[in-house]
Amino acid sequence: MNELELYKTQTRYISHEIRNHLSICELYSEIIKKRMEKEGIKNDSIEGAIRCIQKSLKIIGYSLIDLKSLNNFSPQKTDLKTTLETAIKMGEAYINEKNIEICKELENNITVELDENKFLACIVNIIKNAIEAIEITGKISVRSSIDDNGKAQVIISNTGKPISIDKQKEIFEEGFTTKTTGSGLGLHICKTNLALQNAKLQLDKSDEYSTEFKISIPICN
Ligand SMILES: Nc1ncnc2c1ncn2[C@@H]1O[C@H](COP(=O)(O)OP(=O)(O)OP(=O)(O)O)[C@@H](O)[C@H]1O
Ligand SMILES: [Mg+2]
Repeated sequence: MNELELYKTQTRYISHEIRNHLSICELYSEIIKKRMEKEGIKNDSIEGAIRCIQKSLKIIGYSLIDLKSLNNFSPQKTDLKTTLETAIKMGEAYINEKNIEICKELENNITVELDENKFLACIVNIIKNAIEAIEITGKISVRSSIDDNGKAQVIISNTGKPISIDKQKEIFEEGFTTKTTGSGLGLHICKTNLALQNAKLQLDKSDEYSTEFKISIPICN
């Protein structure tokens, strides 16, 4: 891959991640607006601020077309439980009007060394996929613990439509998608970003009962 192609790929990956998080901001600002309307709260200042936020988000979205960036990682000691709780809160925006319960079983006192923002983005991608796999009603579970090899493990599972056996090999390939509006980049970016930080993402199983992704991360002592 020559340098120009590398930049183009990089730009597309980063744009994709930024767009995911822009849409979380858009969804949450819309939720605030609706909640205020429902509770009869009239506040010109807040309404104005929300309009500004929504406008800014649009502008950033359009600006992404020009984005070029370096492959920057800032690893830091991170409390796994706190980071996962933050990611779950962010990803919940995608539940929107579906009837989805997210269960958490997160062990205390596990510290990993990761770029926290990139890790958050990975978890959001996986939760977003889990929500998208559930048509209306279902369950998602996020568990974290230490595995038999002494690594931290995060298991994210969801009910909903499974991934067919023939497609299970392809889901981490760049551009593979079964969604009409998907770009097929989410899992590819997650796997690449985690691998660059010595962490590993894999599909553990997908059947009629659940689809389960596992992340293994070296721990910090
Ligand atoms: N939890 C899941 N349950 C069922 N299928 C899944 C799940 N996660 C991923 N998939 C399948 O893997 C494909 C690739 O996922 P990936 O996140 O890479 O791309 P995408 O979601 O299609 O698009 P986007 O780039 O917007 O994330 C999906 O299109 C879907 O078919
Ligand atoms: Mg996705």
